[in-house]
Amino acid sequence: MSGRLSGKIAIVTGAGSRGAGLGNGKATAILFAREGARVLCVDQVKDRAEETVGLIRAEGGDAIAHAADVTRAAECALVVKAGVERWGGVDILHNNVGIESRKDLLETSEEEWDRVIAVDLKSMFLATQAAVPAMVGRGGGAVICVSSIAALRGYGRTAYATAKAGVIGFVRSVAVQLGPKGIRVNAIAPGPVWTPMVQDLGDDARERRRRASPLGTEGTGWDVGWGAVYLASNEARWVTGQTLVIDAGLTLTTPEGSLGATR
Ligand SMILES: NC(=O)c1ccc[n+]([C@@H]2O[C@H](COP(=O)([O-])OP(=O)(O)OC[C@H]3O[C@@H](n4cnc5c(N)ncnc54)[C@H](O)[C@@H]3O)[C@@H](O)[C@H]2O)c1
Repeated sequence: MSGRLSGKIAIVTGAGSRGAGLGNGKATAILFAREGARVLCVDQVKDRAEETVGLIRAEGGDAIAHAADVTRAAECALVVKAGVERWGGVDILHNNVGIESRKDLLETSEEEWDRVIAVDLKSMFLATQAAVPAMVGRGGGAVICVSSIAALRGYGRTAYATAKAGVIGFVRSVAVQLGPKGIRVNAIAPGPVWTPMVQDLGDDARERRRRASPLGTEGTGWDVGWGAVYLASNEARWVTGQTLVIDAGLTLTTPEGSLGATR
């Protein structure tokens, strides 16, 4: 690897995977470490964070595991404290945590709405708020928030789409505020990558998801992780407030047959 994050201290939230295989957070944590960052792997399930740390250390990288629920301000403060105490600061915050809700408007309960907004949106606000003073202490930094193309297209999944759209609004608002402090804030909107989060959908759905995009190839956590490496690195020094769509071109497409009536 080329050391694009050499000397950087990174926090990755949701750095474990909920099942066997490779999630977006796990892949990103591994790539950050391969590029030379020291990585604080945060997960509410400690074993999951430790598994990612084990993979990083097995490759000679530097990482520690930290258990926290990032929907709680006090726990976000402890996450940042852990990075500062161990390595002296924070340069990169990768807000990856997210849960899915596949329910439409009329099926979504108030409890589910609140839970999804808390995990997918409020967590990013709290973790960013906690990390900014540590980044200022280092002269700047990079925040990356994982959104979804569900924010950009009318997929249903009301709470999830709303939270993920909120992430983009959050990123734009905060990028303007933090630019003068040398902190860049960007979002990634992944398409239907195949990760443990969606493995319960089954093989037919997997094949449909693969075929849906113009490129017609399956996306993985690595594809999302490489986008995060770019946004975290100095190569993106002039990029802030943006949403990097990583979806094999899916959001470019028009549903098959939908133009028939006008042609
Ligand atoms: N897979 C896809 O198709 C897809 C598409 C678009 C966006 N995304 C987004 O990617 C992100 C997650 O991807 P992943 O593959 O890493 O998921 P994952 O479910 O495999 O891993 C997420 C990890 O986050 C942890 N977590 C959940 N809530 C937490 C909390 N409150 N505090 C701390 N940790 C918590 C879980 O324990 C889990 O280990 C989400 O934001 C998701 O919305 C995924």
